[in-house]
Amino acid sequence: MAVVLKLDGVSKSFARVETTDITTALTDVNLEMHSGEFISLVGTSGCGKSTMLRLIAGLIMPTTGRLTVNGEEIHGPDTSRGMMFQQHTLFPWLTVERNIAFADTMRGKAREPASRAEVDRMLKVIGLESFRNDYPAQLSGGMQQRVALARSLISKPDILLLDEPLGALDSFTRMNMQDEILNLWKENRQLVIMVTHDVDEAIYMGTRVFVMEPHPGRINNIIDIDLEYPRNRASSKFVEYRRQILDMLHFGQKVD
Ligand SMILES: Nc1ncnc2c1ncn2[C@@H]1O[C@H](COP(=O)(O)OP(=O)(O)OP(=O)(O)O)[C@@H](O)[C@H]1O
Ligand SMILES: [Mg+2]
Repeated sequence: MAVVLKLDGVSKSFARVETTDITTALTDVNLEMHSGEFISLVGTSGCGKSTMLRLIAGLIMPTTGRLTVNGEEIHGPDTSRGMMFQQHTLFPWLTVERNIAFADTMRGKAREPASRAEVDRMLKVIGLESFRNDYPAQLSGGMQQRVALARSLISKPDILLLDEPLGALDSFTRMNMQDEILNLWKENRQLVIMVTHDVDEAIYMGTRVFVMEPHPGRINNIIDIDLEYPRNRASSKFVEYRRQILDMLHFGQKVD
C-alpha cells in the first residue's frame, strides 16, 4: 500500500536514572516521507537516530507532536512497519531458515510464516544458502546480521526501518548487500528509512539523506541525491555530495 508518513512537531525526552535530568533525544522534527523513497539517516552517536526509528515503529510514544501514516496516528507497532534493530535479536533456538521464516519483526503481532520459495530467495540474497540449518550461535557476527536483515526484508512491510543493517559486515559483503537491498526496494517500492554511519553508503543508497545533529537531537539538513541508480561512487557529483555531507557533520577538510 502507498503510504505517506508524517512527523509533526515530534520531540522525545527521556528521564535520566538517578538524576533529575532529562535527555532530549529528539526535538521538533517535522518530516514527510512517501512510498518509493529511500531515506538515509546519518549523524553522530547519540543524536537520536534509533529513537526516531523506534517512534516510527510505534515502540515508543513521542513526548510532543504527532506521527501519522496516511493521516492515522501511530499508536503502537504494526506489521505494516517492520524494523531491523541495531542490536539484532535472532532466536537462538531456531535455525537460520526458521529465523527468517517465522520470526516477526514486530512485538506481539504474529503473521503467516513465509513460503518456502520466499525463504529460499532470501537465503540466496544474503548468501547463506548452505547455512540454512545452522543456529545463530554457529554463525559469525556479520552472518547473524544478514539473517536479521533477511528477516526484516521478507515480510515486505510498507515502511521498512533499518538501524545500521550492514554495520557488522566487511566492506565487500557490505557493498553486495547494498545492491541487494536496493534491488528489493526497487521491486517493492516501499518506504525505506535506513540509519547508517557510512556517508558513502547513505549517498549510494538514498533518494534523500537526512543529516542529524546532537544536543538536542534534530534534523539539520536534508539533501536530495540527484543521481541515477546504480550509482558510481567515484563520480564527481557523488564526491561532491560526500564533501557536502561531511561538512554538515563537521568532518569537512579544514582549509586555512
Ligand atoms: N530508553 C531510553 N532511556 C533513556 N535515554 C535514552 C533511551 N533511549 C535513548 N536514550 C538517549 O537518547 C539519546 C539518543 O539515543 P539514540 O539511541 O536515539 O541515539 P543514536 O543516534 O541511535 O546513537 P548511535 O549512533 O550510537 O546508535 C541518547 O542520549 C540516549 O542516551
Ligand atoms: Mg542507534
